Amino acid sequence: MRVRDARRRSASLSFDPMTAMFDLLVRDCILPDGRAGMDIGVQAGRIVAVDAGMPTATVAARVIDAAGCLLSPPFVDAHFHMDSTLSYGMPRVNASGTLLEGIALWGELKPTLVQDAIVERALAYCDWAVARGLLAIRSHVDVCDPRLLATEALLHVRDRVRPYLDLQLVAFPQDGVLRSAGSMDTLVRALDMGVDVVGGIPHFERTMADGAESVRLLCELAAQRGLRVDMHCDESDDPMSRHIETLAAQSHRLGLGGRVAGSHLTSMHSMDNYYVSKLIPLIKEAGVAAIANPLINITLQGRHDTYPKRRGMTRVPELMAAGIDVAFGHDCVMDPWYGMGSADMLEAAHMGLHVAQMTSQAGMRACFDAVTSTPARILGLEGYGIAPGCRADFVLLQARDPVEAIRLRATRLAVVRGGKVVSTMPPAVATLSLEGRPQNVDFLRGPAGSLANGPSRGSA
Ligand code: FE2
Repeated sequence: MRVRDARRRSASLSFDPMTAMFDLLVRDCILPDGRAGMDIGVQAGRIVAVDAGMPTATVAARVIDAAGCLLSPPFVDAHFHMDSTLSYGMPRVNASGTLLEGIALWGELKPTLVQDAIVERALAYCDWAVARGLLAIRSHVDVCDPRLLATEALLHVRDRVRPYLDLQLVAFPQDGVLRSAGSMDTLVRALDMGVDVVGGIPHFERTMADGAESVRLLCELAAQRGLRVDMHCDESDDPMSRHIETLAAQSHRLGLGGRVAGSHLTSMHSMDNYYVSKLIPLIKEAGVAAIANPLINITLQGRHDTYPKRRGMTRVPELMAAGIDVAFGHDCVMDPWYGMGSADMLEAAHMGLHVAQMTSQAGMRACFDAVTSTPARILGLEGYGIAPGCRADFVLLQARDPVEAIRLRATRLAVVRGGKVVSTMPPAVATLSLEGRPQNVDFLRGPAGSLANGPSRGSA
C-alpha cells in the first residue's frame, strides 16, 4: 500500500481524486511501459492523474472501463504526402510500380488538380487517421507549382483539423529545388504562407554536386528562419549516393541538431559497410533523425534488381543502436506510388519489424516506439505522453502490450483527443460454432475469448 501511495503522490498534479471531478476517467488500463491496472484522470483536456487503482468513489463525468487493454499515446506519422493521398488511379494506375513512374504520373496529375478535391481527399484521410488513433501527421506538400494550389489547400486543411489532429507541413520541392526552374521561389513563398518545415530532394537534382548545393541552401534557409528540416534523402538503391552525409555535415555546421530529419535514406541499404561505419557516427554527432518508410521502401526499392532483390529499407537497427532517433512513416496511401493502406501506423510498424528483422522483444517494442514516441520527438509535439500534465490524447487498443498491438494491428477501441472521445470501434471478436470449443475468439494471448466482451466504451 505504501508503494501505491507513493506512486499516487508522484504521479498526480495536486489533484485529490476523492473529492475532485474528472471530465474523463479511464479505468484498468495497461501502459506501454508495462504498468498494469492503471487509472487515468483527465480534466480540462489534460491528464491530471495516472494512478494504480483509484478509489471506487472517484467521480468522473465519463468513465471508460479499459478492462486490461493497452492505453497508448496516439500514433504519429513522421512522413506522409497528403496532397496526393486517395488519388489512386488518377489519371491512371502506375503500371511499373516504380518511384520514377510515380513522379511522372504525379506530374501528369498536378495540372488537373482542383483545390476543393485536394481538401476533400485530405479531410477524408484525416477521418481515417482519427479512427486509427493517428493524431499527428507530418505531411510533405509539393511546392513545385507556381499556383501553390496544394499548399493553400493543405494549409486550409491544417486549420480545419486542428481540433482533432496535428498536421505539420513540409515545403517539398518534388521536382528538385534547383532542377525545376522557379522552385526555390515557390518554396520560400510556401514558407511565407505558413508551411512549417523545409523539405528537399537532393537525389533528384541533376548531379550529386547540385544535390549537395540544394542541401546547403535549404539548411541555411531553415537556419535563418528557425525552422525544422526534413528532406527526402538518398531515396535510391545507389550505393554512392552521399546526401545524408552532406545533410549531417550542414546540420552540424549550422547547429541544427535535433531539428533535422533525413527521410528514406534507402541508399544506406546498399552502401559499403566500411563507409557506413563512418557515416552513422556523423549522423549521430549532427543530431539528425532518420525516417524510414517500410511499406514504400520494400515496394519501390530494388526495382532494378533481378535476384537477389534488395529490400531497400535503411539500416534501422544499426541507426537505433547508435542512439539515433528512427521513426517509421506511412509515406503514401492510395496515390501514384502505392495502392494500399488505411492510415494504420501499426501496419507500418509491422512491415518495418519484418523488413529489419527486428524480432527480439526489445526490437519489436522499438518498432512500436517508431510510430509513437520517437516521431512525436522528431515533430517536436508538445505535451505528448501518458503522464500528469500531458495532453489528454490517447488510444485504447484491443491488445495487452505494444508487441501484441503490432501483431494484431489491434482494433482501436477508443480514441481520445483533448479529453474527448473522438472515435470508437467495437472489439474484433469472432463467434465460433464448434462443439467443445470456446464461443469467442479474439486472437489475444491467454485463454481464448479472454477479452471477448471488450471494454465498455464509456458511461455517464
Ligand atoms: Fe515521401
